[in-house]
Amino acid sequence: MLLRKNIIYGAIFGVIIGFAAGFLIRGVLVKMELKDAHRQISDLQKQIAMIKTAIPPLRSLAERCDIYIGAAVERSLLDISNYAYTLKQEFNILTTENALKFGPVHPSPDAYSFDDADYIIDFAESHGIRVRGHTLVWHQQLPNWIMQGKYTREEWINILRKHIVTVVGRYKGRIYAWDVVNEAVSDDGTLRDNVWMRNIGPEYIELAFRWAHEADPQALLFYNDYGAEGLGVKSDAVYNLIKWLLEKGVPIHGVGLQMHVSVENPPNTQEVAANIKRLSDLGLVIHVTEMDVRVKTPPRWEDLVRQAEIYREILKVCLSAENCKAFVMWGFTDKYSWIPSYFSGYGAALIFDESFMPKPAYYYIAKVLIEHLTLASYDQELKFQ
Ligand code: G3I
Repeated sequence: MLLRKNIIYGAIFGVIIGFAAGFLIRGVLVKMELKDAHRQISDLQKQIAMIKTAIPPLRSLAERCDIYIGAAVERSLLDISNYAYTLKQEFNILTTENALKFGPVHPSPDAYSFDDADYIIDFAESHGIRVRGHTLVWHQQLPNWIMQGKYTREEWINILRKHIVTVVGRYKGRIYAWDVVNEAVSDDGTLRDNVWMRNIGPEYIELAFRWAHEADPQALLFYNDYGAEGLGVKSDAVYNLIKWLLEKGVPIHGVGLQMHVSVENPPNTQEVAANIKRLSDLGLVIHVTEMDVRVKTPPRWEDLVRQAEIYREILKVCLSAENCKAFVMWGFTDKYSWIPSYFSGYGAALIFDESFMPKPAYYYIAKVLIEHLTLASYDQELKFQ
């Protein structure tokens, strides 16, 4: 009887010990696995940190390549620490995305609203970032008093003159380049039928440049457009318009190639190079002003690589043209971009993801800048030999 009892207790004890040992061993194994996972994570973090420290910020590479690299910026986003940090860290030029457009800055005939632009420009100046002012004359984002206004031609001329002189004059010496006239040419190459064209006539373009130049003779004045990056009806029309304005002595210094493109429909780089060449031959500076490369969402890895290649190719074209002096994107993080609300099913068009992590496009851009620097110093060495 006692023996049976002892055997049962012994068995129970054995099972308990077995379970306890099992748990103990499992615990040790889990701990080891966790330790291993932690080690792997910390190795990865070290590798990422090494890559990040190995690649200088884009702006310092760009400065050494004698080019500006930048992004369009919204006032409200500057309050987000990751946004402000990445902006000041990586870019040496910014464009005011909406703050200086007619509607936001001049909402009623006698009222201007400069707070947002002031804030952005102060931010830029305190971080050594140049400013592109965008945009004085456009057919969108106009206030109601313009859209529904009934004035004589003389009055329209005075309205536009006063607007330009006031806005450009306020930032005299502080805005490096202005997109004076934006998107004045239609896709078919004719001058766009807009409020300025209807009420002033084609001279509004020339007048706008002349007034902007009077208000800030140091600022570089740009004509900016989309869909005129390569060759074709629209880019021919832009080229002919600018050539004609230059022949008339209109103070126009540059052309902005917006470069809103998609992975499915990339720009033809040879055509872009040829267009930049003919514009440069007119003595103009060229800026890539609004680049983004939209992809279908959620993005596949291969699309992000393709996107990176498109950014790389356009930057290469710009770097190889002596007069192409800025490479500006329409934002920098996929968290804040105009694409998803304008192109349903598309997004992820910029070079940082929604968590402000660099995407393949970021690294491709850095690589092109580094290669350009290496080639430039190699050329320099050859010259000294
Ligand atoms: O400012 C109002 C705000 O008061 C309101 O609360 C909010 C509610 O929707 O709307 C705000 O205005 C929006 C504005 O962006 C600022 O966020 C407008 O509705 C919206 O239409 C406007 O979109 C801008 C668009 O131009 C207007 O056509 C985009 O942000 C801006 O990225 C885009 O930029 C243009 C360039 O200027 C010219 N080239 C093409 C490029 C992309 O369309």
